[in-house]
Formats: sequence, C-alpha cells, structure tokens
Amino acid sequence: MTDHANTMWGGRFAAGPDAIMEAINASIGFDRRLAQQDIAGSRAHAAMLAATGIITDSDAEEIRKGLLTVLSEIEGGTFPFSAALEDIHMNVEARLKEIVGEAAGRLHTARSRNDQVAVDFRLWVRDQCDAADAALAAVQKALLGQAEAGADWVMPGFTHLQVAQPVTWGHHMLAYVEMLGRDRSRFADARKRMNLSPLGAAALAGTSFPIDREMTAAALGFDGPMANSLDAVSDRDFALEFLSAASICAMHLSRLAEELVIWSSAQFRFVKMSDKWSTGSSIMPQKRNPDAAELIRAKIGRIFGANVALMTVMKGLPLTYSKDMQEDKEQVFDAADNLMLALAAMAGMVADMTANRESLRAAAATGFSTATDLADWLVRELGLPFREAHHVTGSLVAMAEDAGCDLPDLTLAQMQSVHDGIRQDVFDVLGVENSVASRTSFGGTSPVRVREAIAQWQKHLG
Ligand code: ARG
Repeated sequence: MTDHANTMWGGRFAAGPDAIMEAINASIGFDRRLAQQDIAGSRAHAAMLAATGIITDSDAEEIRKGLLTVLSEIEGGTFPFSAALEDIHMNVEARLKEIVGEAAGRLHTARSRNDQVAVDFRLWVRDQCDAADAALAAVQKALLGQAEAGADWVMPGFTHLQVAQPVTWGHHMLAYVEMLGRDRSRFADARKRMNLSPLGAAALAGTSFPIDREMTAAALGFDGPMANSLDAVSDRDFALEFLSAASICAMHLSRLAEELVIWSSAQFRFVKMSDKWSTGSSIMPQKRNPDAAELIRAKIGRIFGANVALMTVMKGLPLTYSKDMQEDKEQVFDAADNLMLALAAMAGMVADMTANRESLRAAAATGFSTATDLADWLVRELGLPFREAHHVTGSLVAMAEDAGCDLPDLTLAQMQSVHDGIRQDVFDVLGVENSVASRTSFGGTSPVRVREAIAQWQKHLG
C-alpha cells in the first residue's frame, strides 16, 4: 500500500486515484450536509452493537464520545473535511479513528456505506417533510388572515382569465388554503411511507452478525426496519416522493404567484404589495415590481427539474446500489432549499399585502359577470328551460354590448323586447352582491359559506 491508497480499502490498492477520478467521485462537497444524520445513525448503530454483544461496552462508549467530539467539530466549523476521503461517512469515520483510535475501526461492523447513506438521507428528507409542513401552515395562516379581512369582498371570478362570475375575496384566498392543505397531506403521506429504517441491510444482503434492527430503527425514530435488504439499499423513491410533493406544492405556489403578479399590475390594482416585498427600478421611478412573486413563480422550474433528474438517474438502475445514486443528494438539497425559501417568501408577502376592495368590486361588475344570475332567474321565475334562458341572456348581453353598457343598465323595456315575461325584480339578481350572496351551495362563494369555511380552518390551523 502506498501513502496515497485509501485507508478504508487500501488493502488491495497499490495507488491512489487520479485527481479527476477524485473530483468526479467525491461527494463530501455536498453530503457534509448529512453530518448530523450520519452521526445519529452511527451512534444508534454502535449502541446496538454493544447491546447485542457484537462489540464491547467500552468500545461503544469510546465511539459514542468520539462521535460527539466529531459533531462538535463539524458544528463549530473546525472539522478538516477531505475530498480524498470521498464522502461524509468516511470523513467522520477517519476523524473518529484519529480521536479514539482502535475502537473506531469496530463501528463499521455489520454495516456498509450503502445502508448508512440510505439512513442518513432518509433522516434528512424526513426532516424536510416536517419543515415543509410547518412552512405550508404558515402560508395557510397568512391566506386565512386575508380571507378573514375580506370574507365578503366582491371580486371577479375568472375562467380563461375572462370575467366569469362574481366571487368573494375570502373564497379565492381559501381556494389556496385548500390546495396547500393537500400539499401538506402529500408530505405527511410520503413521510409515513419513508419512515422505515434501512440500517442493518449492510451492503445489500444483510449480515451474519446478530444485529437488532428494531433497536436501531426505534433509536432513530423510525417505525421499524425495512423488510428487504436489497430494497433497503437501492430504494430512492422516498426522495422521489418528496420531490413530487415538492413539485406539486411549487406548482401551487407558482399559480398564486402568477395571480399576485397580475393583481399588483396597474391594470388590475387588486392588491398592493408592501414595500418589504417589492423592488424598484433603476430607471423607471414609478415602478414597484413584484420580484419575490416572480421568483416564486419560477422556482417550480428547478424543483420539477430535480424530480425529473432523479427519476432519470434511477430509471433502469439494476439492483442494488450503484454510484449513480450519489447524484440524488444535490437535486434534493437544491429543491428543498428553494421550496423552503419560496414558502417563507410567500407567507411574508401574503401576510403583508393589502387587497383593494374598491378595485375588486369595480372589476367584479364588469364583463357581464351576472349573466348567469340572469339566466338562472329566467329558469327559476319564468320556468324557462336553461338552454332557452341561456339564449335569451345571450341576446341581452349582445344588446348591452351594443349599447356600451352593463346588464343592470338596460331598461326593463329593453329587456322585455327580448322576452316579454321579464319583470322589474330581475334587477335584484343583477347586482354583484346579490349574486355572490345567492351562491349558498356547499363549497359556494357566498359570504355565509365562506365564513363557515374560515371558522373550520381557524379551528384546524389553530
Ligand atoms: N457517497 C455515497 C453516496 O452518496 C455513499 C455510498 C457509497 N457506497 C459505495 N458502495 N460506494 O451514494
């Protein structure tokens, strides 16, 4: 063995790796983020090795104390990371050896980096599921605050981004609260499924040592050990589930961000972003740009990209571990970091923005938004089949359009020229307030229903 051969497997190597080999092979540049999880996994493993009599209590104690020292060095920023030691697992073990000597060499009994990295990464992704849940709850609370403030404010509801029917601001805000609620349940589902321990699968086949996998699983907060050792070291669908939940969540954020961009424009003026969440222009003094919303809108790109990248890495990989799988971490780290940033920005932006009740109301009354109310009135009051009512209303809309006015501005005589049964009380349903108030069906936009939904969510979100 030369000086340059790896100390972990140098036995059969005469020379160290080429510099480029080291560069492509090393993951320490990014997997140092798994240090805490790696040390937690090693502590659980060492305690179990002692409890089962595989190593002595005194060796386990040396290892435990040594690992705590390593952890404090890493946390204190004094740990000497080395690319020659490839990854976090070997960096920690090598340093442990320097600190405690021979006992360190016993830590890797009945274990492999394959089950080790699977444990570390699962623990890390599990934490991210919890972080996503908390961050999503904060966005939901900000939206709920907006919903409460304007539960009955009238705004246009859109289809095809054309004014469709009046809705309430509270209802629109709650639509996102619902979406984010489903996002939370997706992360919770993924968390539940991923919460089984790969530790003890060893390289791929299990081990001949009398290990206790239940014990290490419990020590690490897992619900139990994974049932198949081959699957345990080669599965990355836990990370893919996180990325797909993150992608759907980022897609939701992107839609809301898009609305905020549109709504804060001079043409809409539905909302005003606070100074804290706006930027100016270096040349156009009048500008207030919603940069945070635009960036949140764009984050879906990299998050969805990470999902596709890891799917592509994993597809076609034979069982069990292949070094390809080392490419899982950077994608997930980047996606998680950006998701958390987007969620935090969205929570702040939504909490601080001010909806413009007057602009919302004025826009709600444009675009013949109560045409459906008129058609419904013809059905209800005159007994017209809906298709005929639709036709009559269409003629009235065309008449108003020709006259350059809105539906409520037509005279009764004009209306009667299209259908002679129309009465004065039709005007009651043409106002936007009456329109939203009438939509009391479950899940509908009427302020009564919206306030009920707000109360439900308040109870739920605390
Ligand atoms: N750095 C590796 C990874 O991230 C750890 C596992 C290495 N296992 C191996 N058999 N080379 O995947």
